[in-house]
Amino acid sequence: MTEIVLTIDDRQVKAEAGMTVLQAAQQAGIYIPTLCHHEQLEAYGGCRLCMVEVESRGWTSYVVSCLYPVAKDIIVRTRSEKVDKIRKVLVEELMAHAPDSPELVKMAEEYGADRNRFEKEASFCVLCGLCVRYCNEVKKKNAVSFFDNGSVRQIKFVPEVAKNECWDCQECFALCPTSYAQAAYLLTEALAFPGQRKTATRAAKKAAKPRVVIPIMAVPMTGQDSH
Ligand code: SF4
Ligand code: FES
Repeated sequence: MTEIVLTIDDRQVKAEAGMTVLQAAQQAGIYIPTLCHHEQLEAYGGCRLCMVEVESRGWTSYVVSCLYPVAKDIIVRTRSEKVDKIRKVLVEELMAHAPDSPELVKMAEEYGADRNRFEKEASFCVLCGLCVRYCNEVKKKNAVSFFDNGSVRQIKFVPEVAKNECWDCQECFALCPTSYAQAAYLLTEALAFPGQRKTATRAAKKAAKPRVVIPIMAVPMTGQDSH
């Protein structure tokens, strides 16, 4: 295994070839903000909040650290005037969709972001893909997927799968930075299979081991502005 030494925030950090800058930083206990990253999932590069400044052979560039591979002698800065400005705008854009997301509220405080800078499109989903990718890559169920593209891109539960799989799982709810995954599931259940998941759950329980169920909290539903 090839060892690589790079500099992150003025510290010499050792990493293995093939690691990303984010992984090297996390291994060294250096914090980089993330929203769409999850250690059990393939890197996605969706939110760009993990952007850092990289200096290599005299050139400075801004890269997404959860995708960017470590390299010998690069100099990484996790905070700089420009990095902070980029993160501020990214947080402001995301807050147009989910102004009350606790993670975004915390980042807004850190980077001085204005939650009202962009016109509200309160979809409550920031398209981080955590629910979709976790259900696909870890649970192998594909009960929730992306639909459409561009400004109308959204996540939706697939009723035929969700009816049998979701009530006893719910693991994506806790990953969602906005609570929309839970709201979207409840909406799907109410519209597509009201009252039917109990039957499906009983059948599933006969075949499965008991597991801990995450309690459902009240969350805002779509189409409402939280202000
Ligand atoms: S529902 Fe939540 S976890 Fe899923 S893509 Fe939207 S914000 Fe991310
Ligand atoms: S955490 Fe790297 S792009 Fe989202």
